[in-house]
Amino acid sequence: MTPEESSQHAANVCELAPVVPVLVVDDAARAAELAVALVTGGLPALEVTLRTPAALDAIREMATVDGGVVGAGTLLTPADVVAAKDAGALFGVTPGTTDRLIDAALEAELPLLPGAAPATEALRRLERGCIIQKFFPAEASGGVPALKAIGAPLPQVRFFPTGGVSLANAPDYLGLANTVCVGGSWVAPKDAVAAGDWSRIATLAREAAALPR
Ligand code: 3PG
Repeated sequence: MTPEESSQHAANVCELAPVVPVLVVDDAARAAELAVALVTGGLPALEVTLRTPAALDAIREMATVDGGVVGAGTLLTPADVVAAKDAGALFGVTPGTTDRLIDAALEAELPLLPGAAPATEALRRLERGCIIQKFFPAEASGGVPALKAIGAPLPQVRFFPTGGVSLANAPDYLGLANTVCVGGSWVAPKDAVAAGDWSRIATLAREAAALPR
């Protein structure tokens, strides 16, 4: 698979719905139920961040859920890439990017959404074949105006903004020509997950899935 083909696979994941839930899972035993609630609500692509000891087990559990496309986020090292792939992740997300991470993802054949914020970063990633990139931290990096400005010289790069994105500001991002979908944790609030309130999560997912783009 060429780097461009691999990046196109990552772009296809972003095309599935307007929002990718960014999940911090503490209890792998609840992961499948959480995935079912989100997928039922209309959000098939799920990013499980490797920030908790339960994350890889959560990916294994969620990978069994019909209709779900489970990826791994917060990939910081080549070893994270391999562990994510072995757990069944279908795509990977990094907050920022290094060449080692891109090489590891190509080697593991894990479609990657590499983090890039300003134009230089975006251009560097494009040189490595990354036509879809994560814009992170979106709000702190200038938000919608910054993303719009990057789109003028680099319209061939499309973005997945995350970090401070919410139901309220998501439409502004989704209205940009260079935004494929957004990511956010708001669709799976920690208290709702802890309480097993899957119907609230499914309602939040439905609201997010209905966002126009
Ligand atoms: C992250 O990696 O934490 C995501 O960007 C989610 O950010 P959010 O919690 O602001 O949605």
